[in-house]
Amino acid sequence: MNVPAPIVAPSILAADFARLADEVHAVESVADWLHVDVMDNHFVPNLTIGLPVVQSLLAATSLPFDVHLMIENPRRWAPSYADAGAYNVTFHAEACDDPVALAKDLRSAGAKAGLAIDRDTPIEPYLDLLPSFDTLLIMTIKAGFGGQRFIPELLDKVRTARRHVNAGHLELRIEVDGGIAAETIEQAAEAGADAFVAGTAVYGAADPAAAVTRLRRLAERAVARA
Ligand code: DX5
Ligand code: ZN
Repeated sequence: MNVPAPIVAPSILAADFARLADEVHAVESVADWLHVDVMDNHFVPNLTIGLPVVQSLLAATSLPFDVHLMIENPRRWAPSYADAGAYNVTFHAEACDDPVALAKDLRSAGAKAGLAIDRDTPIEPYLDLLPSFDTLLIMTIKAGFGGQRFIPELLDKVRTARRHVNAGHLELRIEVDGGIAAETIEQAAEAGADAFVAGTAVYGAADPAAAVTRLRRLAERAVARA
């Protein structure tokens, strides 16, 4: 299987928010991206942080930000995250009626554009849009909360996306989010994912940096076997 070298994005959702900058610094030397979950209490029931906090955090680290917007009306907000300096800005397919137009706006604001697919959304209607995107985020849980159990059946979407990406020679990361840990990352990598979000598995570990390194190594081995 033709898959780019795997990358790991610790999710700060599982970090101690009172010590957020320290928690980010703890993984700075080993993480590829920092996954930042923005939730608005409308698209999902949960509420996290918004633009001002993300702006402050951007100034506190050199890690590339992988912003995952779980919000209604991403057209109103997503470009501001790109303007603020996020590396990748991902919004949900379920929340946007013109994903290609928003992807264009994000790219012209200097960011990578990501499309997220929630648990109950099929992937097929979105496959033809993928050339407009740099990242495809496939949820392996229902979006909204950290610490949920990984749903292996959702890897069928990853397999479908990987076949499509490889057949079309698309330059697109296939990212998985939800329940990714040492016990689950290998099956996700074998299915064709190449970017892995991990919250609990990183910040719930005694040594978050070591957890990142271990996860990446497991993914690399699984890709080599696939
Ligand atoms: C949940 C978020 C995830 C969350 C994953 O909707 O999108 O990024 O932090 O947390 P874990 O790794 O604990 O499942
Ligand atoms: Zn996320």
